[in-house]
Amino acid sequence: MATANATVSIADDVSELDRRIAETDDLEQRIGVIREAVSGRIAFSTSLSIEDQAVLHAIATPKADIDVFTLDTGRHFPETLDVIAASSGRYCIPIRIAFPEARKVEELVARDGINGFRDSIDARKACCDARKVQPLRRQLAGAGGWITGLRRDQSGGRGDTPFASWDNDFKLVKLNPIADWSFEKLEAYVADNSIPINALHAQGYPSIGCQPCTRAIEPWEDIRAGRWWWENQDGKECGLHNRPANFQPASGEK
Ligand code: ADX
Ligand code: SF4
Repeated sequence: MATANATVSIADDVSELDRRIAETDDLEQRIGVIREAVSGRIAFSTSLSIEDQAVLHAIATPKADIDVFTLDTGRHFPETLDVIAASSGRYCIPIRIAFPEARKVEELVARDGINGFRDSIDARKACCDARKVQPLRRQLAGAGGWITGLRRDQSGGRGDTPFASWDNDFKLVKLNPIADWSFEKLEAYVADNSIPINALHAQGYPSIGCQPCTRAIEPWEDIRAGRWWWENQDGKECGLHNRPANFQPASGEK
């Protein structure tokens, strides 16, 4: 795949890759197409969600050369951490665990309080920035590709998620190999392959983030209704998938 200096050919390459991923319905084949097309390190960020466990299965089964990591924010549910142990027992590829910089979290908590993310959207975004976005930035530095488990069905804001796109913020090719999967298809794949998943999914948590920022939902609610539920429902994102335009970092780092 072309480098960042060749903008025109990147656009061509990425839309060609998007098309090639769409050509097959088989997730392992999609991972193979991605591995073949993108040069350099390809990183898969897993939140240990049901989506990401499906993607992990398709990476780990053929032992694809993909660097798998998760961001431990320090505020996860214990059940989420159990998924790491269950996956390490089931699969033979490592899941690296990346932590935030201690100094950044200490500054944040000193300034906003231990649960300051409840006080304002800016404080919430600053917490996500210190605990998730900056660590993600470090993990993706130097990578050629970034695989996620984003699906179009998850929310209105994710409705046009492509299989492949150029991420100009992180300067890499962003890949969403299950972008077109429904929740039903995902559940069937997980059941057919006996993939270990977070026990909370069966307790009303289809979408799981940090413990204090996630609640169970009622059957009629939107699947992301339990994330940051006290905020306006429009465009709730933590900054991993769109850079917040207007947040206060805990310190000077951008
Ligand atoms: S979030 O932006 O609202 O937190 P969501 O939980 O839907 O995201 O997950 C979407 C994708 O973001 C996941 O498939 C995964 O690639 C990435 N992601 C989210 N949280 C983490 C995490 N803690 N560690 C690594 N990747 C994550
Ligand atoms: Fe902080 Fe909540 Fe964001 Fe987790 S989801 S990083 S606890 S604001």
